[in-house]
Amino acid sequence: MRFPNETAPVPADALVDRVTRSFDACPDPRLREVLVSLVTHLHAVVREVRLTEDEWAAAVAFLTRCGEVTDEHRQEFVLLSDVLGLSMQTVTVNDRTEGGATEATVSGPFFVEGSPEVPLGGDVGGGARGEPCLVEGTVTDDAGRPVPGARIEVWEADDDGRYDVQYDDGRVAGRAHLFSDAAGRYRFWGVTPTPYPIPHDGPVGALLAAAGRSPMRAAHLHFMVTAPGLRRLVTHIFVRGDALLDHDAVFGVRDSLVTTFEQRPAGTPAPDGRVPDGTWTRARFDIVLGTAD
Ligand code: BEZ
Ligand code: FE
Repeated sequence: MRFPNETAPVPADALVDRVTRSFDACPDPRLREVLVSLVTHLHAVVREVRLTEDEWAAAVAFLTRCGEVTDEHRQEFVLLSDVLGLSMQTVTVNDRTEGGATEATVSGPFFVEGSPEVPLGGDVGGGARGEPCLVEGTVTDDAGRPVPGARIEVWEADDDGRYDVQYDDGRVAGRAHLFSDAAGRYRFWGVTPTPYPIPHDGPVGALLAAAGRSPMRAAHLHFMVTAPGLRRLVTHIFVRGDALLDHDAVFGVRDSLVTTFEQRPAGTPAPDGRVPDGTWTRARFDIVLGTAD
């Protein structure tokens, strides 16, 4: 094989062959498959763009910097995977939606174990600033049967675009879990999602800036739904009409997850009798869980 910018028959092919054959004796066939494919594609990139040695060194320096800023609270390599669309591609190739199961999307770095439980109709916001939002729906399996007792984890940023783990006072807000009722129904109060930037003060942020790309995520609210015998679902709902739907920094938007958040005027009572101080929104999200593998 010769790339258009390669002028003569090249020893490059022979090199690719030698490297891929170096994995012939790999005892794990899956590891071998992944390494051979990776080497083949990486060599193709180097040849196609004629990577210079300075560019190679810059790439190594960039990855080194990603390692330096990674710690127990921050994972710059996952963020890099996110902005390159690799996280979303991995979610997509592993998603099983044949039976009508709800589509998954990226999980992001802000989920934490041990969220507080709220009752049905309770407040996930927990003091997070923002326009109140009533979210309700059902959890069913892919045969349409209600799933009682499904555990629904919810987490979201506040009006300023910050998750509670980014506050400096240790407060828990904008995250909680609840369980679906006997008919598979759930409902909770949160805040209407607003767009926010992914962490962009590190090397990945510098890469986005150099590429002229925005770090903003489309407004969303995260869900993780689990129930015995059913496939775990990690997903978001997005806000219909959000200008960022086509420009999400991590490519997480899927059409089926775009949800109408209907705004109600101030003074309108909610179905549970609550009368929020100002405007509030109402969204419906019916969740279908596939069968576990
Ligand atoms: C998030 O939605 O929380 C998120 C996802 C990917 C990267 C950064 C944040
Ligand atoms: Fe998020």
